[in-house]
Amino acid sequence: MTQRRLGEYDDALDVEADEKFSPLSATFRGGKQEPFHTWYPYLEGYSPDFVETVLHEYMNDAGSILDPFGGTVTTGFTAAEKDLDAYYCEVNPVLQFVADTKTKVRTLSDDKREEVANDLRKLTTSFGERITEVKEDDSLLTAYDLAFEGSEFFDEDTLEEVVSAKTVVLQLEKDNRLLSSLLSVAILSSLVPCSRLKRAGDVRFMDEDEWSEIPSLRKEVTESLREMADDLAHKNARIEEKPVLLCENADNIDKIPEKNVDGVITSPPYINGTNYFRNTKLELWFLDCLQKPDDLTAYRNRALTAGINTVSGEYEVPDVELVQQVVNDLEEHGYDRRLPLMVAGYCWELQEIFEKIQLQLSEGARVAIDIGDSIYAGIHVPADEMIVQLLEQLDYDHVDTVKLRDRHSNNGKELKQVLLVFEYEG
Ligand SMILES: C[S@@+](CC[C@H](N)C(=O)[O-])C[C@H]1O[C@@H](n2cnc3c(N)ncnc32)[C@H](O)[C@@H]1O
Repeated sequence: MTQRRLGEYDDALDVEADEKFSPLSATFRGGKQEPFHTWYPYLEGYSPDFVETVLHEYMNDAGSILDPFGGTVTTGFTAAEKDLDAYYCEVNPVLQFVADTKTKVRTLSDDKREEVANDLRKLTTSFGERITEVKEDDSLLTAYDLAFEGSEFFDEDTLEEVVSAKTVVLQLEKDNRLLSSLLSVAILSSLVPCSRLKRAGDVRFMDEDEWSEIPSLRKEVTESLREMADDLAHKNARIEEKPVLLCENADNIDKIPEKNVDGVITSPPYINGTNYFRNTKLELWFLDCLQKPDDLTAYRNRALTAGINTVSGEYEVPDVELVQQVVNDLEEHGYDRRLPLMVAGYCWELQEIFEKIQLQLSEGARVAIDIGDSIYAGIHVPADEMIVQLLEQLDYDHVDTVKLRDRHSNNGKELKQVLLVFEYEG
């Protein structure tokens, strides 16, 4: 199941990287055997193993860890497993919901978790029947029509099943909120696999001849519930410390009382890497977070400017030589005037966020950033080197750059994924 859910997104994993990090561990797939990791497959993430290696190599003495771009909170859960205080920020409500549900169930006592696992197992046998029996809740269908304006992401029967599944979620919510949330997570992770969309880099429509491969919702959800029940029995399931959502938007982190964290492990969006909100539109809709097409734009505007479609208005260019040079090159040779704006906006906002993060750091804190470069109109955009210069302008000392793996652009140009490590001078 996991393999198919991970879709076709698969950069070539050429191995010529640092021996401490396996190239696979720097990708989501690297954690596909780990309990809890695949509850919601998030290709943009890295693996728990990657976080463990960063902790071991660079932050051995840390008592607390922050991830300002939390995603599925891989950093937070891995840190919590080691009894560290863990904090994160994340703008996407889908990811917040998944992380919150995992947190609730993983902090239960062993006995209580066993009860929940039993409830999940019972649900695997009753879910199919329940969705045929319930009366559909029209509000989800109305939101679908308003938000998606006639797009046919599901065949008719599957859409009906999804809507019925939502009614089951709402029924369960009345007397077993946690079970209802767990069922929602199972459904969220089944929506794209059961739709006419596929993950191929970003989420996009399948070809019609692939429709015959689409599995039924009841089968996918049932398998997910079973996998979740098994994970709840895993020896590392229980965590004492809850990863804490500090604020949704990392740009607000200066408004939070000081946490004095000893380390940051994070992966900000890559420049024009992924359209995070469009990729989760079905999940946002299922959680009642999308009522009209504009809602997607509103979410996107809250996130770091990182894609050509998220560019809005003018941006200042940070006073950093490399950034100015790349922005000038894109202005002169780029095929779209939004390209230089995107790079300028990305660098400006990222520098601002890391300036605010300083308020949350203890003196000598280590900051580890996973990032990749990109190329537009033949112009190389070295996000890694730009970030080094942007952070050095603040109070961060660059202490290491580690190559994690080779990547390739759509037209075959060589790119890479690296880990940048800094120390906060205080
Ligand atoms: C590369 S992903 C992180 C994946 C994560 N390392 C994991 O393993 O799941 C970057 C995340 O940053 C989030 N994001 C973008 N802008 C943000 C902002 N201003 N504040 C907080 N989160 C943001 C995106 O929604 C996305 O989930």
